[in-house]
Amino acid sequence: MIRTRVDAHGDDYRQRREAMLAKLAELDAEHAKAVAGGGEKYVERHRKRGKLLARERIELLVDPDSPFLELSPLAAWGSEFQVGAGMVAGIGVIEGVECVITANDPTVRGGASNPWTLKKSLRAADIALQNRLPYVNLVESGGADLPTQKEIFIPGGRIFRDLTRLSAAGIPTVALVFGNSTAGGAYVPGMSDYVVMVRDRAKVFLGGPPLVKMATGEESDDESLGGAEMHARISGLADHLAQDEHDALRIGRRIVRSLNWRKQGLTPLPVQDPKYPADELLGIVPEDLKVPFDPREVIARVVDGSEFEEFKPLYGASLVTGWARIHGYPVGVLANARGVLFSAESQKATQFIQLANQSRTPLLFLQNTTGYMVGKDYEQGGIIKHGAMMINAVSNSTVPHLTIVMGASYGAGNYGMCGRAYEPRFLFSWPSAKSAVMGPAQLAGVLSLVGRASAQAKGQVYDEEADAAMRAMVEAQIEAESLPFFLSGRLYDDGVIDPRDTRTVLGMCLSAINSAPVPRPAGFGVFRP
Ligand code: COA
Repeated sequence: MIRTRVDAHGDDYRQRREAMLAKLAELDAEHAKAVAGGGEKYVERHRKRGKLLARERIELLVDPDSPFLELSPLAAWGSEFQVGAGMVAGIGVIEGVECVITANDPTVRGGASNPWTLKKSLRAADIALQNRLPYVNLVESGGADLPTQKEIFIPGGRIFRDLTRLSAAGIPTVALVFGNSTAGGAYVPGMSDYVVMVRDRAKVFLGGPPLVKMATGEESDDESLGGAEMHARISGLADHLAQDEHDALRIGRRIVRSLNWRKQGLTPLPVQDPKYPADELLGIVPEDLKVPFDPREVIARVVDGSEFEEFKPLYGASLVTGWARIHGYPVGVLANARGVLFSAESQKATQFIQLANQSRTPLLFLQNTTGYMVGKDYEQGGIIKHGAMMINAVSNSTVPHLTIVMGASYGAGNYGMCGRAYEPRFLFSWPSAKSAVMGPAQLAGVLSLVGRASAQAKGQVYDEEADAAMRAMVEAQIEAESLPFFLSGRLYDDGVIDPRDTRTVLGMCLSAINSAPVPRPAGFGVFRP
């Protein structure tokens, strides 16, 4: 059992906790924007039409009082589009079955898909495929956001490809159509295994009446072109005609029940709570990420019984590795302790990842790294080779990976510790996270040195004043771009979470992952030891 050294009455703890609570208040404010959808005017109009909001639809679809793991609620943050990107996505439990659920938010620009909605939607389908989770779409969308069509039209074809690939992989897809689903959007029900349409509400056609008039001169109306009743009785696109929204959700639940879905992964062992309160996770990460913290304090508040069987504790001490359980599921943990990764840490990580693959144990990466060590001695000692070994192991490992960015995630450390490009099944950030190619001051300093050398080579005098201004500007820009809301807005994670929720979120992810069978053993690339 991990013994804590955290002094919950000390000054350090209090300051860290206050800083984290301030960041969490900002996070709440951003989440509230996503929940507010298109704003009061559009929400009111939607209600007046007798319709349920996207989140209300989800709430009625999932089992009463069951948890819903929302994904990417900050999508589109920092862009011209509404926070949340006009879509709610997440994992919810329907009739006891964990499903990926997405719902267009018709109060946000008619539920139209912008580039961030597309990313969110593709990510949801990936999660369904990787983890073998039934996929339920609650559809009501104005299709492509027309002004940004160039960003979405061509890559957006993947939405429909993914739906049929899910089906081919034996993963059921369900479309509940509450409203508009035109043009490309018509292929969401078109490609789904099960389709439910709401009477007098669903409108599913390749082209609406004006387009048809333009194309062929034919006079038509919404109902005869794409109404629910027509699709249920004549075209056969709808499998069920729902009387109203509640009926559609009831039918959706019945469809999932009839799947007779069985999880194929591990069954969790009895669960034990950690010995230390999750609340203390607020006071562990220092505001200044240059100050190291012991990740064992985090592990102690996340894993079952605070029990951690540390592997190679005396070797490569800047990376903590070991075995634990979370909500009864076994995991191997890799956690940065002092930020920098040296050769020994890289070798230890490589061995540990291989061991986890031998025992088919999922891996949890807890990131707080400034990257691999630079400098003559380290280069000569083979830091590139050893970092490459670790990246090889992470890339080719086939056990499920989960990543939490607790603090710094800079340079190739982001790669070796299973950043987004290394496709962990899920990746969440804490509000204290920061991620960039390097720290803002270092990056600005490098640019300054390069500029100085270039001026010298051309025999020019270096403008010190302009250099100082450039450095300040670049530092501010890189700092802003390395913050978690910005990165979450770009879908570089699955969401920013309250550290206190880490164990719950990881437990839900591990449960979702185990809907799929334990993956095949890994074949690693060639190691250069
Ligand atoms: N792209 C960009 N903006 C869109 C949009 C789209 N596809 N669809 C709707 N919007 C905008 C509207 O311009 C409107 O903006 P405003 O409030 O600033 O004027 C806002 O979203 C709400 O649309 P509105 O038409 O008032 O909502 P509605 O609920 O009455 O109708 C639709 C929703 C989806 C039926 C209707 O907007 C529509 O037919 N949109 C175009 C659908 C289409 O042909 N898409 C192309 C598919 S590839």
